Amino acid sequence: MTHGTFLRKITDYAHRADPYPLYAELRKTPVLRDDIGPYLVSTYWEIHGLLHDPRLSSDPRNLDPEAAGLVVAEEEDDPSLPPSFLRLDPPEHDRLRRMAMYPFGPPHTPRRIHDMRGELARIVTGLVDGFEGRDQIDLVDDFAYPFPVTVICRLLGVPRADEPLFHAWADTIVSSADPDPDADAAERRGAVRRARTELAMYMSELIEERRRAPGEDMLSSLVHGDGPDGRMAHSELVSTAALLLIAGHETTVNLITNGMLTLLRHPDVLKRLHDDPRLAVPLVEEVLRYEPPVQLLPQRTPLTDIDIAGVTIPKGASVWLILASGNRDPRRFPDPDRFDPDRRDNQHLGFGSGIHICFGAPLARLEAQLALAELARRLENPRLLEDPPPYRRNAVLRGPRHLPIGFDGVRAGREP
Ligand code: HEM
Repeated sequence: MTHGTFLRKITDYAHRADPYPLYAELRKTPVLRDDIGPYLVSTYWEIHGLLHDPRLSSDPRNLDPEAAGLVVAEEEDDPSLPPSFLRLDPPEHDRLRRMAMYPFGPPHTPRRIHDMRGELARIVTGLVDGFEGRDQIDLVDDFAYPFPVTVICRLLGVPRADEPLFHAWADTIVSSADPDPDADAAERRGAVRRARTELAMYMSELIEERRRAPGEDMLSSLVHGDGPDGRMAHSELVSTAALLLIAGHETTVNLITNGMLTLLRHPDVLKRLHDDPRLAVPLVEEVLRYEPPVQLLPQRTPLTDIDIAGVTIPKGASVWLILASGNRDPRRFPDPDRFDPDRRDNQHLGFGSGIHICFGAPLARLEAQLALAELARRLENPRLLEDPPPYRRNAVLRGPRHLPIGFDGVRAGREP
């Protein structure tokens, strides 16, 4: 295999169901300059080191224009939706992240996620109740998509009835993060720009509504909250709300689906989870290592030349951090291709690491734990109807598009 083929192979749909042999090959050269430009980083400690290196920027405006070509820069000079903190560096990143965290988690709102537990459990129970009388479901459409979408809407205060509207915008924006060397960049750019403008207008109106009539939701807190950093400007509110809405419903769906797929391929673990729902906690961590929903981060760039693993990555180059490959690095995880929920010291890269580590991780973890435990407890004799299932196109946010599951019945839910 020549080096130049790696990037195309990663994005090639033919490898979507099982990209792991490709990553094993890639790890033989921890930092590899791909023939068509980007530097691919595939080993755990190198990825970890770069994620903690202040010389590596998340802001696509620091990319050399030539290196930027592959991924449609989501926020390029787009006045309707300025860069969210996902794509900013310190100090702006830190200020906005702190302000967004104020109504979401510790130290100011430590109970926000904890207090949602009962509500999340009710949503999960209701969705599984809906399977009664059926012998087959599509786990994605019938469960793994509606659950996190309902949750993020409630959390933010976005009307659930508007979901069909923002589903299409989110799909388009998320697909812009999918690096496809063969795609028509101009066409994609136009579609992304339209989706971003419409989402920004929608969020802007919602923010104005919450300004007039605040509720208990997070958007109202962001609009009205006065933390140590003051209030966000209107455009910052729009970008942050859009980021949370998209991040909150295009990733957790894949964690739940990848988790159920893995459990159905490991019936012994499924049986253990059925007998003891507490196993859900370490099990979800192992799914995040073994089948991470965010496979790679394709948009980093050095602010100055960086020497790493015998390679100098020049300023402005495009750097891809292959998280899913780092998670299978045998120098970090013994027997890495084994799915082992009893694994100790499981500091996986599934939520990233460093200053951009996933903001929503406590929520995503709880959602996946409740979802998988309930499915394991209530489905009688569940089985995969298609293996491998059909996957989404996206190489970055990887997961099945459908997951058909057959079962013999649904056990009763718990009394409320
Ligand atoms: C299983 C589900 C999820 C996975 C696998 C995931 C994964 C990630 C990863 C890998 C990053 C790091 C990105 C980078 O370094 O460039 C990230 C950042 C982020 N995530 Fe998540 N995420 C998930 C769910 C969520 C949810 C539910 C929310 C919102 C409530 C959320 C909000 C964010 C935000 C705002 C950031 C940007 C943080 C920053 O730049 O400081 N995520 N996520």
